[in-house]
Amino acid sequence: MDATDHVRREWAARVEAEYRSAAITQHLTLWLIQAGASPDLIRDGLRITDDELVHAEMAFAVLTAAGGALAGPFDRGSLGLARAHAELEVDVALVVTEVFCLGETVAVPLFAALRADCTVEVARAALDRVLVDEVRHRDFGWTALEWLLAQSPVPLRPAIEQALPGMFARQRQHYAAGAESGRLTAAEGAWGLMDLDRYAAILAQTVERQYVPRFARLGLDAARAWAGPVSPGVLDQARPSTS
Ligand SMILES: [Fe+2]
Ligand SMILES: [Fe+2]
Repeated sequence: MDATDHVRREWAARVEAEYRSAAITQHLTLWLIQAGASPDLIRDGLRITDDELVHAEMAFAVLTAAGGALAGPFDRGSLGLARAHAELEVDVALVVTEVFCLGETVAVPLFAALRADCTVEVARAALDRVLVDEVRHRDFGWTALEWLLAQSPVPLRPAIEQALPGMFARQRQHYAAGAESGRLTAAEGAWGLMDLDRYAAILAQTVERQYVPRFARLGLDAARAWAGPVSPGVLDQARPSTS
């Protein structure tokens, strides 16, 4: 099935997103080592880094099969994390919350939906692998957050609750900006693309079915954060997302 420019742009963006996920997870895992996390959690992080490299390779295979190429080297500044708080635990908690608890949790239904109409073999193989891995990546996030909340010598809930509205705002913006508007053709669906409005619908469903109950179990109010006001400038704070 013939690919379109939209297909090539989307898979080029996915290569970069997966490669960035590998870098971010590698960096976060170093932070977990520094924070004294359990070896099991650290190994989970290392394994996820490798998964993300595999995702990048598989996305690159799709891009190549679609007749596309990468535009140039990735922005090195985006391939890692930066400390923002005096206490390591606060930085770890905020990255775990935004990248894994939010990003990887919504990734599970998103990739399931992307895969549903995907019939081009190389794209289907990539989405099959990603979907299998995302469930474990999601679970890593919630396990890590639970561990942090239980073990941290400094309080984390106030920092997380303060940051959540901005994280949700960036997530809404990310999924709106991540897909191009306009109806897709059947061929584009076969290459693993999805209409913009479905991204937004799946995110809204995930808030209700996943975020609110999962955060509530950890003593955090995600419903209020989702509905709450966002302070100016929060969308400019480039926190990394992963998938
Ligand atoms: Fe990934
Ligand atoms: Fe992932």
